[in-house]
Amino acid sequence: MWWASGSLVLVTFASALQLVVAYKPLSDDTLKHRLPLPETADFDIHTGNLLAPILIPRVPGTPGSQKVLKHFVDFFRTALPTWTVSFQNSTSKTPTHGDTDVPFVNLIASRDPPWAQPGNVGRLTLVAHYDSKYTPEGFIGATDSAAPCAMIMHAIRSIDAALTKKWENMQTQDDIDLEFEEDKGIQVLLLDGEEAFKDWTATDSIYGARSLAEEWEHTMHPATSIYRSPLDSIELFVLLDLLGSPENLQIPSWQHSSHWSYVRMAEAEQRLRQLGMFKSNPKHTWLPEKNKKDTDRFSSYVMQDDHIPFIARGVQVLHLIPSRFPSVWHTINDDAEHLDIPTVEDWALLTAVFAAEYLELDDFFESLPTEHIKGRRALTSKTEL
Ligand SMILES: *[C@@H]1O[C@H](CO)[C@@H](O)[C@H](O)[C@H]1NC(C)=O
Ligand SMILES: [Zn+2]
Repeated sequence: MWWASGSLVLVTFASALQLVVAYKPLSDDTLKHRLPLPETADFDIHTGNLLAPILIPRVPGTPGSQKVLKHFVDFFRTALPTWTVSFQNSTSKTPTHGDTDVPFVNLIASRDPPWAQPGNVGRLTLVAHYDSKYTPEGFIGATDSAAPCAMIMHAIRSIDAALTKKWENMQTQDDIDLEFEEDKGIQVLLLDGEEAFKDWTATDSIYGARSLAEEWEHTMHPATSIYRSPLDSIELFVLLDLLGSPENLQIPSWQHSSHWSYVRMAEAEQRLRQLGMFKSNPKHTWLPEKNKKDTDRFSSYVMQDDHIPFIARGVQVLHLIPSRFPSVWHTINDDAEHLDIPTVEDWALLTAVFAAEYLELDDFFESLPTEHIKGRRALTSKTEL
């Protein structure tokens, strides 16, 4: 991502449609005893099932990129077999590759209510880019955005069973007429080609996101659908970027139209901290602008990132990127060793909570196996000391 240079383009849609969807906070009991927590087995930088395989160079069109893509596909096939996985591919010339077309592969994974017509499902959409920068050679991009990809993987895996249960429950209840229920699903976009090959410009950056937004705008659902196109089906585009640094990096509320969702996530952050469920530095607050007023300044278009082609087409975006970048940003030091794993795990947990609350899953989490609860108690008592 990049700060827009020159004059700031501040667009304020005073009359923008404020789409506020249903949202139900998880109870303390669910948070403490039922929601699966991130584990070392997933986030260790050398052996972690989710994170470690992403911590390699993954420049578009290279074997590293294919390896990471395979890691994602294997994850869905084994851990989330009910999800639908597809790709959206494109090619482009770049300033560094002359006449060669560089391939870009976006991974799209989604899960809809089993009875729903695809054109009638509004989807919470969790997004991160998985490509890494072309230079410097060997660049890993651990915060940018290997860690955010792993956070999203954890989040969807930890809510998947509850989602199944909620939908089974809806299908068996006599008093629910599914025809009149709001069909809400979830999807994940792991995007390619976010990074510029040379210098960030409108044409040398966000290759995958530009291609996907354009294609989805013109892919029409059947005429009787509630949502016109897959683009239109995105209820909220939640973009994670540059997360997992040990530094105290705060995230402003960037968009007026999605401020309601920022507030919800900030409230979830606060509750997780109060319940002693975070492992990272307790002095940090990631989302400090909960009380920002409607009349305050929202710097919407300042931050260039994968959301730009979507927000330009009217998609509502919650952009989770700090205003001050990690000090290792775009250097060879943005590597595994410079991640703060407690911070990565806490972000994974917060993302899971946000998704569970957005999809109103509080009643559908099962009690965890005993060893999870033991682990949790150890964690809680440690932080309570
Ligand atoms: C897109 O690229 C992926 C990865 O290379 C490949 O597996 C897939 O078949 C391609 N999809 C299409 C529709 O071309
Ligand atoms: Zn970057």
